[in-house]
Amino acid sequence: MSPKLFVLLVIFSLHCLLALASDPDPIQDFCIPNPKYGAIRTARFTILPCKNSSEATTDDFVFSGIKTAGNFSETGLATVPVNPTNFPGLNTLGMSFVRADLKVGAINPPHFHPRATEITHVVHGSVYSGFVDSNNRVFARVLEQGEVMVFPRGLVHFQMNVGEKPATVFGSFNSQNPGNQKIPAAIFGSGIDDELLEKAFGLSSKQIGMMKRKFDPKLEA
Ligand SMILES: *[C@@H]1O[C@H](CO)[C@@H](O)[C@H](O)[C@H]1NC(C)=O
Ligand SMILES: *[C@@H]1O[C@H](CO)[C@@H](O)[C@H](O)[C@H]1NC(C)=O
Repeated sequence: MSPKLFVLLVIFSLHCLLALASDPDPIQDFCIPNPKYGAIRTARFTILPCKNSSEATTDDFVFSGIKTAGNFSETGLATVPVNPTNFPGLNTLGMSFVRADLKVGAINPPHFHPRATEITHVVHGSVYSGFVDSNNRVFARVLEQGEVMVFPRGLVHFQMNVGEKPATVFGSFNSQNPGNQKIPAAIFGSGIDDELLEKAFGLSSKQIGMMKRKFDPKLEA
């Protein structure tokens, strides 16, 4: 079985992955994180203590880091996540953003955001885009420049540049910390027991080993 077909199988065998959390309502106009205090992590949220609002500046509410593409991976995808870590003004506002650039033929592999619905906007290019619902029904088509598509929270989605030029898409999320689980790495790169994976996918230990080498960052040479 080809790895491509195999990854497709993995997507179709996934069940609904819904999270019941949403970002809390803000109780202040804004909360620019104070680098002096760092992050406080709780079970559900990461809290960034605010600096005195009198110390906030216009620059805290402006982000210039998405004017250009990020660093391209071997597979031709470059992403620049925009969240309170690099754009402090977003903190507590329940939103975040991403810029993704795809070389010709490149893909954004199947993944999902446990805490956010995403609207994707094709700024340049032709991008096959879609998601799979909890009945394993796929909703997908090629989006042209200027079109947007919504990926409901927690559902697996994917994109591929099917045009003849590089593509740029922006995504906005209704959480400041949407989370991102890439299906291939979550399955084959996380350390799940081989025997379970062999039984789940009906593959030999050799085939599982091949997938692990491909998707486990710890096994990459
Ligand atoms: C915030 O800054 C203002 C102006 O400097 C000051 O009056 C106020 O006491 C500060 N608030 C806190 C909680 O430190
Ligand atoms: C791209 O890589 C450079 C050098 O490693 C790094 O300084 C920069 O922050 C990276 N850019 C992004 C958007 O990740």
